[in-house]
Amino acid sequence: MKLRPTLPRRSVSIVGTGSYVPERVLTNAELEKLVDTSDEWIITRTGIKERRIAAADEQTSDLATHAACKAMARAGVTAEEIDVIIVATVTPDTFFPATACWVQKKLGAKNAACFDLSAACSGFLYAIEVAQQFICNHTYETILVIGADKLSTCVDWTDRNTCVLFGDGAGAAILQHREGTHGILSTHLGSDGNFSDILIMPGGGSALPVTPDNFDQHFNTIKMNGRETFKQAVNAMWSAAETALTEAGIKIADIACVIPHQANVRIIEAIADRMELPLDRFYINLDRYGNTSAAAVAIALDEANRAGRIKEGDFILLVVFGGGLTWASSVIQW
Ligand code: ACO
Repeated sequence: MKLRPTLPRRSVSIVGTGSYVPERVLTNAELEKLVDTSDEWIITRTGIKERRIAAADEQTSDLATHAACKAMARAGVTAEEIDVIIVATVTPDTFFPATACWVQKKLGAKNAACFDLSAACSGFLYAIEVAQQFICNHTYETILVIGADKLSTCVDWTDRNTCVLFGDGAGAAILQHREGTHGILSTHLGSDGNFSDILIMPGGGSALPVTPDNFDQHFNTIKMNGRETFKQAVNAMWSAAETALTEAGIKIADIACVIPHQANVRIIEAIADRMELPLDRFYINLDRYGNTSAAAVAIALDEANRAGRIKEGDFILLVVFGGGLTWASSVIQW
């Protein structure tokens, strides 16, 4: 067995970001024609005004590849330089091969090891932590992390409790060690499988295959206990944020920008309240995209970066929550 020499752990930075959303905009007014809902209800209860829906021939790997190309261009990284591709998704193109392998093919990233990671809306930060470990331990140099989901394929368009909430999109980041930068200061991951049934797509896997006999029961669509999910999300995100801040030795007041999971503006308001931070310290884009699952925090990070909301040296806090239940947080010096 070839043993690697023991090298000191090194810092890991996000050196490029990118995002992509499909062209098709689905407005609240259009949803009013599908289910018994209203623009007014959706905006006041969630903050969502519209979301993007991918075309039938636009797969999760296509959304992911578009976002990846932008992140690579901003990082100045070629496809051949990528050592690992991790795609966080719950809507893979295929159960296997992994969506990461489809992305590899589309990018021509022939030197990369590729795999998918399933942690629902928390997936992007889970993947960032995996990538960070690979780089800080000198296993790999350059990792492409993508959060991508085409949730429109597993939304029950007859269920007003869920169909108004979700959209499609992808966000990507290139991670490397950069001399003289601190980068990721702390990451905290958590899960609680006891709450697996409050946010679930029960069918389509080995537990409940979808067959011609049960097809009309919509088992391969999202089922959610909204009120319970809301409560768990606020508690878990607040506590995850506190843990990551403590581990990084950074005070909340020193955070220049909080980039939260984009599920419901009332969840973000509740967290802002607990943190005693003004809402304008949070980057929010859910009004335009709804909840894009693993893509949500990745798209928000890229937009905040390009909009100049994050400057070099700033401390930022990313905090997410999703099915599993899963949650995660990270403090980064940009
Ligand atoms: N239009 C109109 N009325 C609606 C709609 C709708 N689209 N959806 C629900 N209602 C009704 C309900 O039927 C209910 O009516 P009733 O009182 O007659 O029974 C009423 O509105 C209130 O329903 P609640 O569920 O209590 O509404 P709430 O204010 O909690 O908002 C929501 C629901 C938006 C789903 C909220 O609970 C929420 O955002 N939950 C968290 C979702 C989340 O964070 N998901 C994160 C992870 S997602 C992932 O991992 C893929």
